[in-house]
Amino acid sequence: MAHITVTVDGTSYKGEVEPRKLLVHWLREDIGRVGTVVGCDTSNCGACTVLLNGRSVKSCSVLAVQADGSEVTTIQGLSDGNEWHPVQTAFKECHGLQCGYCTPGMVMATVDLLSENPTPSEQEIREGLEGNLCRCTGYHNIVKSVSYAADLMSAGPTKGAK
Ligand code: FES
Ligand code: FES
Repeated sequence: MAHITVTVDGTSYKGEVEPRKLLVHWLREDIGRVGTVVGCDTSNCGACTVLLNGRSVKSCSVLAVQADGSEVTTIQGLSDGNEWHPVQTAFKECHGLQCGYCTPGMVMATVDLLSENPTPSEQEIREGLEGNLCRCTGYHNIVKSVSYAADLMSAGPTKGAK
């Protein structure tokens, strides 16, 4: 077993983990971040995407021990409890989800995408999210959601309210 300390959604967690345990399983099973979901066993779908030190990663392709000493943000840490993150608001307003299974990963990947490129073109959005798969939407409303999120974030923090 290995001892790890990871800050998740602003709270520090210490624990013993098997060296082979994946970050997504540690998040879900050990500290209850079940908002981060598993959609495949091939590292293809992106449903498990979280931010690791501010950058999006597929948490099924990272070992928990690799996150030792790091900061992780999950979908459960985006909202402050009173206001949604603008990306969450945009996905709701633009109907960027249907079953919602891909949505936690889509939202986290979008947060990273917009931090790198605050005004992406449609092509840049499609390329930026190509690691995240959706079986339901046909992607059109997801692209609209990301574009609207970019507008909300450039307009200021108050636009993300529930
Ligand atoms: S569960 Fe991680 S990429 Fe599918
Ligand atoms: S909304 Fe169902 S998989 Fe994307």
